[in-house]
Amino acid sequence: MNLLDYLPGVPDFPKPGILFRDISPLLANPLAFQAAITQLNTLAQQLDYTHILGIESRGFIFGSALAHHAHRGLALARKPNKLPLVSHREFYGLEYGSDSLELQQSSLPTDARVLIVDDVLATGGTIVAASLLLKKAGFTLAGALTLLEIAGLDGSATLSKNGIVNRSLLI
Ligand code: PRP
Ligand code: MG
Repeated sequence: MNLLDYLPGVPDFPKPGILFRDISPLLANPLAFQAAITQLNTLAQQLDYTHILGIESRGFIFGSALAHHAHRGLALARKPNKLPLVSHREFYGLEYGSDSLELQQSSLPTDARVLIVDDVLATGGTIVAASLLLKKAGFTLAGALTLLEIAGLDGSATLSKNGIVNRSLLI
């Protein structure tokens, strides 16, 4: 099974020149979704982590499924103004705009070694912001894991420059 067949590119969404990767076909196929989580777990086992940080929105899907599969706890990095007890906030740029993420300090035990999980690595801005949130909160970063890296945007290099160990299942 080639998982890329279940992640079709949609040209010019949400802006001209952007090739959007649609994860809906993969989620709709139980064999493809299970294969993705099993293979992400194999990659995650290379990284020494105790908890997962899922990034809203699409990172929640893969982060929570992997946390359940791997018997790890899950914390949520949320889009603005969703958390009742916001402790930390980071702004970041995207291929198509800017946004911010928030994290509650109380989400995790102080000795947590956290693996950031998201669906797609594009420029790396989202994962760098998530890593800065974890750093501000005093947690140890175990690394970052994504289902798919978009080639040509240097996301991997950006993460390396920021000292983030990074694995992607598909490129
Ligand atoms: C998308 C994707 C990643 C991020 C990758 O999220 O799900 O989180 O962009 O881009 P980057 O590496 O350039 O930061 P987006 O914020 O568009 O929306 P979502 O809420 O659907 O996850
Ligand atoms: Mg996202």
